[in-house]
Amino acid sequence: MREKLQELRELAINSINNVIELTELENLRVKYLGKKGELTQVLKGMGKLSEEERPVIGQVANEIRVEIEEAMNKVKENLKNKTLTEKLTKEKIDITVTNRVKKLGHRHPLLATIEELEDLFISMGFKVLPGPEIENVKNNFDDLNSPDNHPSRDLSDTFYITEDILLRTHTSPVQIRAMKEYGAPLRMVSAGRTFRFDDVDDTHSPMFHQIEGLVVDEKISMANLKYTLDVFIKELFGKDMKTRYRPHHFPFTEPSAEVDVTCLSCRGEGCPVCNYTGWSMELLGCGMVHPQVLENCGIDSEKYTGFAFGMGVDRITMVKYGLKDIRLLFDNDNRFLEQF
Ligand code: DAH
Repeated sequence: MREKLQELRELAINSINNVIELTELENLRVKYLGKKGELTQVLKGMGKLSEEERPVIGQVANEIRVEIEEAMNKVKENLKNKTLTEKLTKEKIDITVTNRVKKLGHRHPLLATIEELEDLFISMGFKVLPGPEIENVKNNFDDLNSPDNHPSRDLSDTFYITEDILLRTHTSPVQIRAMKEYGAPLRMVSAGRTFRFDDVDDTHSPMFHQIEGLVVDEKISMANLKYTLDVFIKELFGKDMKTRYRPHHFPFTEPSAEVDVTCLSCRGEGCPVCNYTGWSMELLGCGMVHPQVLENCGIDSEKYTGFAFGMGVDRITMVKYGLKDIRLLFDNDNRFLEQF
């Protein structure tokens, strides 16, 4: 029995030392030490041994088991190290290669302005609504009370897609959508892109941005309009800002006004930027919602009144950051955008 065990030991250790793959090692473990393995089989035969022999052989068998296990662990370690070394030599990292991570874009100043404006109006209880850039003629002109012969309806001023569908020329149609959907009372703003058949120059672009506002409730008056816009202008540009309301005409408001604010360059002193008037001109249009517009949207104009306003976001952004050319806003040049 003792010889048989020694033979087994030698065979096992030999095969273990010749192993070159981890899977092979596992096979050998099963072969010798597994439940039906050879060493186990030998130990099972121990019942036939005499009382004196049994503990001696038992001890030898155990020593052999330990020896086989140790040999296996050693080979296993070696194999693992070898694979790791191979991997490390193969996968060399070239630290001299330049970092080609693509530069992310930069938050656009127009978006920053829009969000700032929206936040201001949210704090005054307005809700922010979206509106489509592709509109129908009814929302963009008819229901806003714009007469059939209004020049802005002309093919030379507006991008028509079909006779009834166009690229919205202002954000005012969102007023119509909001009143039809929510009725009165209502406080909403809506910002987005607008389109007009304009040639590009330093202050014009066929694509520009507006933010629209509308309040409809009982007993809304011009005083509410003036207070709201004055608070808003002061919050946006500073407490020392003054406003000036000049009578104007819009088909959807009556009365209507255009608003000028203190020139930001000279704070009202008079400078070349404001033509020495002390005012930034035509920052926004506003007025009391025309009763016909309320009626067009199913709102009782005897019970409710409202005010509305619309302003150019590009214009506000340019005034705010002192930009001279609107094209800078649409060139998407990171060297420009990164400055904000
Ligand atoms: N929609 C006008 C424009 O694009 C701006 C405007 C003026 C909007 C008066 C209004 C308003 O809501 O009441 O020129």
